[in-house]
Amino acid sequence: MTIPTDSKQVSQSHCVQPETELVQLGRDPMSHERAVNPPIQRGSTLLFDQAADLYHAGPNQPIKGYGLEGLSTQDRLCEALTQISRGMGAVLASSGLQALTLALMATTKGGDHVLLTDSSYGPTRRFCREVLGPYGVETEIYDPRIGAGIEALIQPNTSLIILESPGSLTFEIQDIPAITAVAKAHQIATLIDDTWSAGLYMKPFELGVDISMQALTKYQSGHADVLAGALITHSPKWLAKLKSMHQMLGIGTAAEEAWLTLRGLRTMGLRMAHQDKVARQIAAWLEARSEVAQVLHPALPSHPDHALWQRDFTGAGGVFSVVLKPVATAKVHAMCEAYRLFSMGFSWGGYESLALPSSLNVKRRFPSQHAQGPLMRYAIGLEAPEDLLADLEHGFSVLNDA
Ligand SMILES: Cc1ncc(COP(=O)(O)O)c(C=O)c1O
Repeated sequence: MTIPTDSKQVSQSHCVQPETELVQLGRDPMSHERAVNPPIQRGSTLLFDQAADLYHAGPNQPIKGYGLEGLSTQDRLCEALTQISRGMGAVLASSGLQALTLALMATTKGGDHVLLTDSSYGPTRRFCREVLGPYGVETEIYDPRIGAGIEALIQPNTSLIILESPGSLTFEIQDIPAITAVAKAHQIATLIDDTWSAGLYMKPFELGVDISMQALTKYQSGHADVLAGALITHSPKWLAKLKSMHQMLGIGTAAEEAWLTLRGLRTMGLRMAHQDKVARQIAAWLEARSEVAQVLHPALPSHPDHALWQRDFTGAGGVFSVVLKPVATAKVHAMCEAYRLFSMGFSWGGYESLALPSSLNVKRRFPSQHAQGPLMRYAIGLEAPEDLLADLEHGFSVLNDA
C-alpha cells in the first residue's frame, strides 16, 4: 500500500469560507495514522531525555513540561479556535466560567479598577464582586450602550474593560470598536465574552479586542454533553500572561472534552446557520403575538442595536429573549411547563430547544432600557420550525387560560 506523504494539514490558504475552515482546522491525518480525526491523547507525566530540559520546559517555553498544559488533542482544538477567531493563540479551561475567571485573574491586581458591562453573564459579575472585590479590585458597572462615552468612566487605575455583545438575557449589542479605541488610547486591556457568536459570526480582534472568551459548552461542542471554555488572543503579551496564569491556577482540560469539542466544530457552521434561520423566523412570529411586549433579537430590524449588529456580525445563532406583557409568574411557569418540545434548563447552543423564564431586572443597574414584564430566553435547537411554532402556540394557550 502506498502511504501518501503530502500532509493535508490545513493552512489558511485552503480555507476560503468559514464552513470549509470548520471542516479542515485542527486535524492532520498524516501525523496520526491517516485517520480523519485526531486521537484522544491522555497524559500527566511528560518524559525528558535531557536533564537540562527539565527546568526549561513549560507553558511559555519551546517544550512542554507537564500534562496540565494540554497535549496534542488540546493543541489541535486551540489551533482551530485560534484560526476561527483570527487570533494568534488560545488556552483552554474546563468551563466557560473558568475561562472567564482565569482571564480576570490574569488581567487584574489589587488596587485596579475594572469596568464591566451591565449586560454581562451573571457569574462574571459575581466573581468580580465576591472574589476580586475582597482582593482590592473595584468593579464599576457600565451601561452596555455607552459606546465611546466609556471614556468618562476611566480612572488612572482602570486596568480592564469587560464586554459582552450581545448581552446575556437582554441582547444589547455594544459598540465594540468605539469602546476598544478608548481602551487602546488609555492602554487598558479589553476582554469580551464572545460565546454568542462562537468566533464564527464576529471577529473580536478585528474590532480591537485583546482577549476573547468563548464557552465551548455551547455551540462548539453543540450537544449539551461537554463543559469547556477557551480564551483566545491575538497578542503575544496576553497569550504569555494567560498561559502563565493557567499554569499557576492548575487548570487542565480533559483530552476527551477537547476531542468532543473538535468533533462538534465540524458541524457548528451548519447547526448555527440552521438555528439562526429558525430563530429569526420564530422571533418574527413572536413579535406579532399579543402576549409579547418586545422581542430582544439583534437581527430583527426592530432591535434598537440592529445597525450595530449588521455592521459587526455576519450571523446570529439561535438564542434570544422575549419580554412578555405583564402577567403573573405562575402563568409564565404554567406556559413553560406545558411546552412539549422546549425544555427548561440553563445553557444553550445544543441541538435541543430550551426555554428559560427569567427577569429583566435581576441585578441590573440600568434596567429601564426594555419593556417591563416577565422575560423568556429561548434557545432554538434543530427541531422543525413548524413543530416549535406549534409548541409556542400551545404554550400561549395555556398562558391565556391559566
Ligand atoms: C454568555 C455566557 N458566557 C459564559 C457562560 C459560561 O459557560 P459554562 O457553562 O461553560 O461555564 C455561559 C453559560 O451559560 C454564558 O451564557
